[in-house]
Amino acid sequence: KAADILKEFEEKCATPISKLKQIADAMTVEMHAGLASEGGSKLKMLITYVDNLPTGDEQGVYYALDLGGTNFRVLRVQLSGNSTIEYKEFAEASIPPQLMVGTPEALFDYIAAELAKFIADESEKFHLSPGRQRELGFTFSFPVLQLSIDSGTLIRWTKGFSIDALVGKDVVAELTKAMDRQGVDMRVSALVNDTVGTLAGGKYDNKDVAVAVIMGTGSNAAYVERAQAIPKWHGPHPKSGEMVINMEWGNFRSSHLPITEYDNTLDADSLNPGEQIFEKMIAGMYLGEILRRVLLRMADEAGLFGDTIPPKLKTKFALRYLRFSNYRTHIMSAMHHDTSPDLKVVGEKLKDILEIRDTPLSTRKIVVSACNIIATRGARLAAAGILGILKKTGRESIRDSEIPDTVIAMDGGLYENYTIYRNCLENTLNELVGEKFAEHIKLIHSNDGSGIGAALLAACNSQYI
Ligand code: BG6
Ligand code: GLC
Repeated sequence: KAADILKEFEEKCATPISKLKQIADAMTVEMHAGLASEGGSKLKMLITYVDNLPTGDEQGVYYALDLGGTNFRVLRVQLSGNSTIEYKEFAEASIPPQLMVGTPEALFDYIAAELAKFIADESEKFHLSPGRQRELGFTFSFPVLQLSIDSGTLIRWTKGFSIDALVGKDVVAELTKAMDRQGVDMRVSALVNDTVGTLAGGKYDNKDVAVAVIMGTGSNAAYVERAQAIPKWHGPHPKSGEMVINMEWGNFRSSHLPITEYDNTLDADSLNPGEQIFEKMIAGMYLGEILRRVLLRMADEAGLFGDTIPPKLKTKFALRYLRFSNYRTHIMSAMHHDTSPDLKVVGEKLKDILEIRDTPLSTRKIVVSACNIIATRGARLAAAGILGILKKTGRESIRDSEIPDTVIAMDGGLYENYTIYRNCLENTLNELVGEKFAEHIKLIHSNDGSGIGAALLAACNSQYI
């Protein structure tokens, strides 16, 4: 019976190439619609005010504050021109869960206090010349309607955050007030999404980077668009002729998506029902939760774990996503990568996390199969999303030999640590673009590129240049 539930689930999650191509086409259509007018599509296609990516000539000491991934971090970046960077990470901490759903003041005071701490700890060497203010790139990884490169209002929360009072407010103004309260003398010179930071950081290392994708707690993409292809942009024509667009692709949805009952209930029970449907099928925060729901049904209807339903299996997000350098902290990934003959790791995780003891091998195998179905669907859908961007930018086929290679800067814990997922994404993308073109498309891991990118963008928008 559990095998039947699994089989039915697998069928519903199927992502044949033909379907992925339809999804990519739907993504391209939505991209056009989102660029045409505000509210024209589920895809916000946000204008970032980044019309020039860093060149490598930037100099000076800049700071970056990164909020919105699993961990919050503070960086100091020293730019010496000639593309040389030295950087030091000061703090990396998870945001206390109560602050994710509390008040704007509590969240920003916590962050500003962290900033205050590291400024206090800084060595003399990094004290800036008298009268010169420290400048900060603020990576805020949520949908923001930018008003300028250094201001923007929060459209809505995604992932595990939900602080109503901040929606519609300028997040830079709120951070600045908190810095004042905490005695931190710093100016936010650039407000960027993590995808935009990753794009800027990636491009600094490799000029062929044209797209950035985050596969982490959440998922999103940014890319360089021709300004002329953005009808909703009424500002001055950028000198570069280009503008970086933050797609907020997590909110994509299409009738072609293979949505199951588990996705529907996950969505209905979430902090943001009806929103971020694509993200809920592909991103790290949700993969383990889909797994939990599948296992729960098998426990309930087919007695997968014995006569009673293990109580822990009823706890939402019990199979959590945590990002540390070791992928085994992503519980689902750890189980999925278990290659031991008796699936020892699966047994341990079921015991440690869900308090299910002595599972037979046949049960463990079912768990691994469920992981595989969920990860495969997610990775293949993400690849289809990337194909959609390549199509929109005319990079999905070889028109002539002059077309540069396309490098896609990738970051996020899922991409970094969930090897099976990453390999599946890469193989699917190759399959989608075809052998002949696959060699012109490269995915690179831009490790923490977003923090460096934010500091670089702060440098480009310094008040002193
Ligand atoms: C980090 C970036 O490497 O990855 C962040 O510095 C980004 O800006 C994050 O938000 C996304 O991954 P995760 O797995 O932490 O959500
Ligand atoms: C969510 C956010 C988006 C961010 C992504 C990855 O989708 O809405 O802004 O880029 O997560 O962190």
